[in-house]
This record gives sequence, structure tokens and C-alpha cells, in this order.
Amino acid sequence: MRYRFVVGNWKMHGNRASNRALLEAVVKGIDGLEAVECAVCVPFPYLGEIAGQLAGARLAWGAQNLSEHAQGAFTGEVSAPMLVEFGCRYVIVGHSERRQLFGETDCVVAAKYAAALAQGLKPILCVGETLSQRDAGQTEEVVERQLRVVLDSNGKKSLENAVVAYEPVWAIGTGRTATQEQAQAVHAFLRARVLPETRILYGGSVKPDNAAALFAMPDVDGGLIGGASLVAGDFIAVVQAAARAAQRKG
Ligand code: 13P
Repeated sequence: MRYRFVVGNWKMHGNRASNRALLEAVVKGIDGLEAVECAVCVPFPYLGEIAGQLAGARLAWGAQNLSEHAQGAFTGEVSAPMLVEFGCRYVIVGHSERRQLFGETDCVVAAKYAAALAQGLKPILCVGETLSQRDAGQTEEVVERQLRVVLDSNGKKSLENAVVAYEPVWAIGTGRTATQEQAQAVHAFLRARVLPETRILYGGSVKPDNAAALFAMPDVDGGLIGGASLVAGDFIAVVQAAARAAQRKG
């Protein structure tokens, strides 16, 4: 069985007071939902405090980006060993916002994925097409390339310690979710290219009211949640939907 997984990506949101309250509520709310592994990926400056707050809790934490270098003269960058020091278990690599707004190429993403693995961090590798690529019928070609460049340099076996997230760019923060059939089609395509036990998350406007339908799909193992991870009740409801799907799918 592939263990269900729900990850919150806070992006550049939060403050120390609201983080504390949010995490307190989430930790309480996911109590008893052991069929679902849960994590939050938070902005760098909050990692220290959150590591303290979540020590011993069932909610794991991680970062949203890392440098491909382990150390050196790279002003403004944060390395994998630093994330490890703060108890991170996960790190998102290749999020579409990093690719689009910060110019991360497939090769840079592959190097970041390698840097994470080298320190024992589990990368959450994001792939996904833009709306124009989908409209041009290039969805499979795009996600295949994004995955292949990473696996060519890191080996398919590296997926034993990684997670894949399908995030169609047109569905991120737009309120426009992929239908469950659209998500399933791409997940099945990816499934054929990863290890049988690799978890493939869906991300893009997942909310309490659409989570159950998405998680019911055979190849959707959970979600990477943006906006809804900032509201405790919404994030908990999404985890509950994943727990119900886990019960049904086994
Ligand atoms: P939204 O859930 O806000 O659409 O964000 C999805 C996402 O990008 C998660 O990484």
C-alpha cells in the first residue's frame, strides 16, 4: 500500500503568532488520522521555531526550496545541511513558481533534488504543464521531460526516497482545479514512469470540497496544498478526505 500523504505549502505566508496558532490547531485536528502522513513546508525563517513547536508531533516539516550547493559563496541561498539541522524531513523542488519566477531549469531542479537526497532529505519533485502547453496537447511531453531530466541524473532508484507532485500550473492559486479525470490521466502516465511505491500527489486549488473526488482516483496518493493549508479547518478537512480515501482504497 502507498501511504497517503498530505503536504501544506505555505509559500510566502505566515507570521510567528499565526503560525503557532495554525500548527496547534492542525496537530490537534489530524490526531487519529494515522492513515495519512502529514507535513508542512514553511518559509526558511520560521523553521527553527516550528522545529521546536512540532518536536514529537506527528506533523513533519520541511522547506520550499534549497540550494544545489552544500556550502560556499552563494549569497542568499540556503543549503540542504542547514535544513537538516532544523529537523526538516522534506523539501519541495521544482515548484512551478520557482521554475517560472526564478528561472529554475530542469537541470537546476535535478541538482537540487540530488542535493536534498545527499543529506537524507526527501525531495517533493513538482512537475506540471502551463495552460498553453495543455491546450497544445503537450501535457505528457512536458511532465515526462521534467521527470526524465531528474531521473537521468539521479537514477530511478532515487525515487525510493522522493515524492512526486503533479501540479498543473493553470490550477495553482486560480480556483480552477483539474477534474479528477484530468488528474488521474496524468498520474497514471507518471505512475508508469516511477517506482510502484512512489507517492504521486496532486496540487492545484485542492480544497475541502474537491479533495475527496481527487483522492478517490487510483493513482492520486494525496495532495500538495497551497491556499487551503493556511486555514486550519480547511487543511484538516483535506487530511480527513485523504484518510477516508485511504480506508476505501486500502
Ligand atoms: P493552491 O492550492 O493555492 O492552488 O497551491 C497549490 C500549490 O502550488 C502547492 O504547492
